[in-house]
Amino acid sequence: MPIPNSQALPALVVVMSDDFVLPRTGSLEDPIRVAVMISGGGSGLAALLQYQRTSRTHQTTLVIADKEDADGLQHSIDAGVPSLGIPIPMEAEAKERRVTHERLVHAALGEHDIELVVLSGYMRILTPWFVRRWKGRLVNIHPSLLPDFPGAHAHRDVLTAGVDVSGCTVHMVDEGVDTGPILAQVQVDVNEGDDETSLQERIKQVEHVLYPETLDRLCSGQISL
Ligand code: GRF
Repeated sequence: MPIPNSQALPALVVVMSDDFVLPRTGSLEDPIRVAVMISGGGSGLAALLQYQRTSRTHQTTLVIADKEDADGLQHSIDAGVPSLGIPIPMEAEAKERRVTHERLVHAALGEHDIELVVLSGYMRILTPWFVRRWKGRLVNIHPSLLPDFPGAHAHRDVLTAGVDVSGCTVHMVDEGVDTGPILAQVQVDVNEGDDETSLQERIKQVEHVLYPETLDRLCSGQISL
């Protein structure tokens, strides 16, 4: 499906070290079992679930939010996919909270036999403890053309910089912030008069096509060399 007001960048030849190779290739009969992690509205999750209504090499079998009342959980409930809200355990010591939270997430992923974790609007920075355990099986989408404009305020930073073009990037997650190997990018024009909301919405439309299709390439073994 063509992506409006956007331009696919030339296909990337992604050469990943063994660190980043999925342990197996998915098939239509035996798709890679995916957990999607969200924090907010989950429009990307909804698009992925819709895409997976046709048999794919990946299937979402668990959704985890970092809040029990994250709006996006409704999409998994509607689709009949198991979902969990796992909030930060405030009862834990302040400096232990992040890893304690990640241990709970890690345990849930294990209980559900998850093979690939797809971050989709998950607004927490994962610690090296978690990343080491999931490296090569941990993917993110970021709403800019990385390595430009990493971080939580990409659209704001793009508009402040006054650049003409932004976009979105699917990448493997490493221990840095928005720094892992890039799997796919599409550029999106910044229009005159754009504000954060209009730019975000236009980029999301592109993300909703790019992310599922990139997961196809990853899970069917077309990316790792
Ligand atoms: C997306 O733009 C994604 O790139 C960013 O957060 C947004 C999530 O939106 N990391 P939604 O919650 O899927 O609607």
